[in-house]
Amino acid sequence: MAEAKDKDKKEAEIDTIWSRRDFFSLAGWGSFMAALGLSSLYFARLLFPRVLFEPSPIFKAGYPSDYTVGAVSTKYIKDQRVWIVRDEEGIYVIFGLCTHLGCTPRWLNTERKYKCPCHGSGFTQDGINFEGPAPRPLERLKISLAPDGQIIVDKSKKFLYEKGQWGQPGSKLLV
Ligand code: FES
Repeated sequence: MAEAKDKDKKEAEIDTIWSRRDFFSLAGWGSFMAALGLSSLYFARLLFPRVLFEPSPIFKAGYPSDYTVGAVSTKYIKDQRVWIVRDEEGIYVIFGLCTHLGCTPRWLNTERKYKCPCHGSGFTQDGINFEGPAPRPLERLKISLAPDGQIIVDKSKKFLYEKGQWGQPGSKLLV
């Protein structure tokens, strides 16, 4: 009888030991799988770096012969936010950003002026502010000719009237 009790006790101890082993084995696998999942996520994240793809500030704007003397071209205002103007001397590019608070003015051909819809600033055809709250003229952008004869506009280089930059090389294409 005592022998049978000892045997039962030993079997119970063995069961306890195995159930503990099962638990630690499961916990180990769980941790391993979690670590594997996290490292896979991290690896996948490396494949898609957080890079901001901005459009190039440089674009081609056709040939000088596409522009008429005395006219303001609105062809690129929607896509590039610029007007291209040709006068008797050459061609220049005006950035369509109001110098008050940054709205996009509209070219009013009959009134020969850019008019800002936000607070009413007005600018002459060459970009000088003459009415409304805008504190300074519109900015001009760099213009040059590509080897193929097309106009290149570089929106990363600006020319400011108030700093005397409108006469600098690159502010106007003499054609
Ligand atoms: S943003 Fe153009 S007048 Fe205010």
